[in-house]
Amino acid sequence: MLVASNRGPVSYAVREDGSLHAKRGGGGLVSGLSAIGPDAGALWVCSALSDGDREAVRRGVGGGGAPARAKPRVGDGVRMLDIPADVHADAYNGIANSVLWFIHHLLYQTPLEPVFDAEFRRQWASYETYNRAFAQALAEEAAQGAAVLVQDYHLCLVPGMLRELRPDLRIGHFSHTPWAPADYFGLLPDDIRTQLLRGMLGADRLGFLTRRWADAFTACCTEFTGGLGRTEIGVHGLGADGDFLRARSHEPDVEERMADLREEIGTAPDGSARKAIVRVDRTELSKNIARGLLAYRQLLDDHPEWHERVVHVAFAYPSRHDLAVYREYTAETQRVAAEINERYATPGWNPVVLHVKDDFARSLAAYRLADVALVNPIRDGMNLVAKEVPLVADNGCALVLSREAGAYWELGDDAIVVNPYDIMETARALHQALTMGPEERAERTKRLAAAATALPPAQWFLEQLQALRAIQPS
Ligand code: G6P
Repeated sequence: MLVASNRGPVSYAVREDGSLHAKRGGGGLVSGLSAIGPDAGALWVCSALSDGDREAVRRGVGGGGAPARAKPRVGDGVRMLDIPADVHADAYNGIANSVLWFIHHLLYQTPLEPVFDAEFRRQWASYETYNRAFAQALAEEAAQGAAVLVQDYHLCLVPGMLRELRPDLRIGHFSHTPWAPADYFGLLPDDIRTQLLRGMLGADRLGFLTRRWADAFTACCTEFTGGLGRTEIGVHGLGADGDFLRARSHEPDVEERMADLREEIGTAPDGSARKAIVRVDRTELSKNIARGLLAYRQLLDDHPEWHERVVHVAFAYPSRHDLAVYREYTAETQRVAAEINERYATPGWNPVVLHVKDDFARSLAAYRLADVALVNPIRDGMNLVAKEVPLVADNGCALVLSREAGAYWELGDDAIVVNPYDIMETARALHQALTMGPEERAERTKRLAAAATALPPAQWFLEQLQALRAIQPS
């Protein structure tokens, strides 16, 4: 069995003494796939992303000592592809994150964007080269009839390319993002959209996080390629890893950060603990962090009774900052937070606590202290934070959830559901969440936690693998 994704399960850094230090890779995809563990014989093919990764490839780290193979592997069961940095940048920043991510999350401001020009065509050629490098590595590594699970929008062309090289393989592809409606996908140049869809239809089986995204993909195929052909479609809603999160969130480093965070949140004038509205995201355009802050400001405008009694804890972790639009979005988020603090803060109260630095233990500390979880993305494949907070919150939590997150389809009954663009509605939802009685909150949290763990990562992965293996080779 082989897995292929842009970001792999480990990332290396070179220490001052020249040795290599391995760290677990980040992102929702890695959380989901880490469940496969050290499955004997499984190989994970990914990109070398850091200088440390490239150095690890050069040294042929793993397996102890010198590489026994012509193609270097890194660590146990991981093969990192050292794709030239400029080709990778064009494919990852240029096409995957600036075009495909924008298409599937409806992020373009269409009066000015997108523009498909010569630069786009140049980047597209790199996207093809990068996909071909994966297809070739997989073709080299796979045993006869092996199952290959290709991940995400970075690698849409791999299934088609791999099928040509190795018709004996069972090929699956999983999309961790939403899929665009046909009209919006249709913004892409004709040849590109056909190439993307045909590339994916090279798979035996395509997986999506919700029925909604699967249907959107099918609609695109009906419109642009004349249907799905022989490819099967499956829906697998990735759940949270409850056992891991519950245990991890009670470790000493989390307790320590809870103490710090309690201090930052402070106490209300009557001496009671202030309520915490918590959100944790990457600094990602689709996460809608700025509108969340505007809704919180509206809550403070409409309900002076919350002044000094509530704090909005927003952790936003830097992501994709090679792209100017991401850096600007982070700055805009910081600007809105500062504006709210300027307007409302009192000597003992900072209405917004915003941190823009990655710290997993601190996120778990915030989860545990949350009274309200705010998850209001413009559009999101699933959103695991919505599933994680109810599992971990010490006193249960009320969940304010966007109807545009994949998680809405599983958690919608027990969340307070909002239109992510509607500031007034979101402000009302926050008020409702803050005033929810303890019994109702406990009941809802229980049901949310059950729904959130319905398909834990290990089962999510096995389900797909079994479905793929069950397909008769054509
Ligand atoms: C989303 C994508 C993943 C990606 C993650 C982090 O969840 O679906 O494929 O790994 O974001 O983004 P990054 O660009 O840092 O890999």
